Amino acid sequence: MRFNLSEINELIRERRTIYPEQFSDRKVHKEQLEVILNNAQWAPTHGNTQPWRFKVFTEEARQTLGDFLVKTYIKLTPKEKQTDIKVSKLLNRPTMASAIIAVCMERQPEEKILEIEEIEAVACAIQNIHLTCTAYGLGGFWSTPKLIYTQEMNEFLGLGEKDKCLGLFFIGYPSIEWPKGHRKPLEYTTEWKTQ
Ligand SMILES: Cc1cc2nc3c(=O)[nH]c(=O)nc-3n(C[C@H](O)[C@H](O)[C@H](O)COP(=O)(O)O)c2cc1C
Repeated sequence: MRFNLSEINELIRERRTIYPEQFSDRKVHKEQLEVILNNAQWAPTHGNTQPWRFKVFTEEARQTLGDFLVKTYIKLTPKEKQTDIKVSKLLNRPTMASAIIAVCMERQPEEKILEIEEIEAVACAIQNIHLTCTAYGLGGFWSTPKLIYTQEMNEFLGLGEKDKCLGLFFIGYPSIEWPKGHRKPLEYTTEWKTQ
């Protein structure tokens, strides 16, 4: 065994979604964010394209993000479908977090690799982000409001037309007890084939 598997098992199984409403005001240091982002970069990637791009919102930029999200939601959502809860979450969640990382996929100009595989690579990077947060005792929340997939979002983040924002990842110290998770037993998800 090259690593302590029982610790790794625990890290993977303890990774939990913790929402911004459950964060305290304690700040996450830039050095921690750098470790988190460096680990993200070690995700697997077909052809080593390394398609991930990170836009990190801290300090005042968090409010700018919240203002943009709510403005865009109101612009793109038919009035009868808008809800106060959604408006409030989009506006207020960013400042409840110490940092928000918009995790994006930059499409290679040559498009040699299938888009789905570039997206998969970025999803792996997000898992690395979340696991590293867990190791620090930090809460993380992968948020995907529909508007992140719009042209408005791409323009806000300075992304190209074929690039995609795959999530807003909220980070903060939890103010709650670490939540418990549960998963189905292996029998529900796995078929063993021997012949
Ligand atoms: C691609 C993806 C998108 C997600 N988007 C949201 C979201 O928009 N809102 C939300 O509450 N949770 C979102 N989640 C988090 C899931 O709700 C969460 O992972 C799931 O409930 C299991 O909980 P756990 O992360 O604590 O194991 C997303 C997760 C993934 C993988």
